[in-house]
Amino acid sequence: MGGLMDNQLQKGRAAVSRPAAKSAKAIRGAAVPPAAPVVPLAPPMSPVQARRLSAAVLGGVPAFRRTLHVGRPNMPDQQVFLARIQQVLSSGQLTNWGPMVQDFEARVAEIAGARHCIATCNATTGLELAIGGLGMTGDVIVPSFTFIATVHALWRQGVRPVFCDIDPTTHCLDPDCVEAAITSLTTGILGVHLWGNSCASERLRELAREHGLKLMFDAAHAFGCQPEQPKNSYLGDAEVYSFHATKCIHAFEGGAIVTNDDALADRLRYMVNFGFAGEDQVAHLGTNGKMNEASAAMGLTSVDAMDRFFAHNRENYAAFEKGLAGLPGLSLMPRAAARRHSYQYVVTEIDPDTAGLTRDELVAALRLENVVARRYFYPGCHRMQPYAGLSPRAGQTLPVTEAVAQRVMVLPTGTQISCQDAARMCARIASLLRQAPAVRAALKHCKDPRLPHFAPLRAGSH
Ligand SMILES: Cc1ncc(COP(=O)(O)O)c(C=O)c1O
Repeated sequence: MGGLMDNQLQKGRAAVSRPAAKSAKAIRGAAVPPAAPVVPLAPPMSPVQARRLSAAVLGGVPAFRRTLHVGRPNMPDQQVFLARIQQVLSSGQLTNWGPMVQDFEARVAEIAGARHCIATCNATTGLELAIGGLGMTGDVIVPSFTFIATVHALWRQGVRPVFCDIDPTTHCLDPDCVEAAITSLTTGILGVHLWGNSCASERLRELAREHGLKLMFDAAHAFGCQPEQPKNSYLGDAEVYSFHATKCIHAFEGGAIVTNDDALADRLRYMVNFGFAGEDQVAHLGTNGKMNEASAAMGLTSVDAMDRFFAHNRENYAAFEKGLAGLPGLSLMPRAAARRHSYQYVVTEIDPDTAGLTRDELVAALRLENVVARRYFYPGCHRMQPYAGLSPRAGQTLPVTEAVAQRVMVLPTGTQISCQDAARMCARIASLLRQAPAVRAALKHCKDPRLPHFAPLRAGSH
């Protein structure tokens, strides 16, 4: 394996040496015009250099010494954060709507352009609260191409998810499929602003109005992201953010529900605190979904750094655009038309027929480069438990979801990744694709413990 060098590198060296040989011949001949300037020969590559430039799966040196991950936390200013924590400790109020949570709710509402914000301990609880608060029952239309929490939140509220296909360009709900899926049992639509992209909000709003449905959005990926022309309907009846540590703006763990519906906001404020409407008066079914003061302190400090984080990711994205341009069979999701975007997800799709490698093979080969690229959201929620029996005709009803789930690979970005890292990742991906047949053959025999252990799909889940 060690002898398998990047043959493209060798080709590159040959291309430099050819014109030089020609000009030497020309100088010897009398009748020819003066030779073109001599192009110096590249020094021969040492075996060490060759190993450094070759893919790790082919015996080369990994592209990175440290391991790069998707979703490593963006760290805001530590001094500012510690000053806030000091304030929390001095105040003696650690939770139950202290001043940090109140400030955080005000900041989130302002950025979202919403009248109300209810901070929560995480987005999953926020989704459950919003589903219950909106009175969704029966069937609710939801994409299968999402993180499983979107669907669990419905199920745990006693609502049946009706999986609907997505738009191949945005990976968000396809409104035509939503329209086709509406029945007399449907009470709502739960869209997902995936990757921070806006989920056809206007069309979904019209459909919801026409059919008397509730409309809410899982905006776990989308805090701070704004479509080009924000409309009131962007929020739907309610929208839920995640402030988990993997999100661009985080609160260690955290979530928030925003809404312009005054009555819903009142209800949610009770529901997030066990249903308490007074000292000893319980007015609603509720839970303990409150955010604590330490999380809110981190959330506020993270929001302070939002412009810096977004700008850093935007620069990384430009490096990925440059480095991945023109690679056969690999496409980077084009930038969304947005007024503001976090670029927190570097989403690529691999077409195995053109790339010569499947998405899973590329993910595996990158692990040996110490790049933990991720498959998202494979194999689609409709193939996971307890939902695997709900879409028996998924091949016909969810063709885009099925195809996209096989092809998406997300690359690491965020403030722990530099533009140089991004460029180096791209160069190594290019190298892997150029040597696709050799990479595929080498992977078959590779026993490296860093390789992912992709579980086979359970029988009956198709
Ligand atoms: C689309 C989506 N929805 C919901 C969640 C759940 O968020 P949390 O971890 O804050 O509960 C996530 C988390 O990654 C997500 O990606």
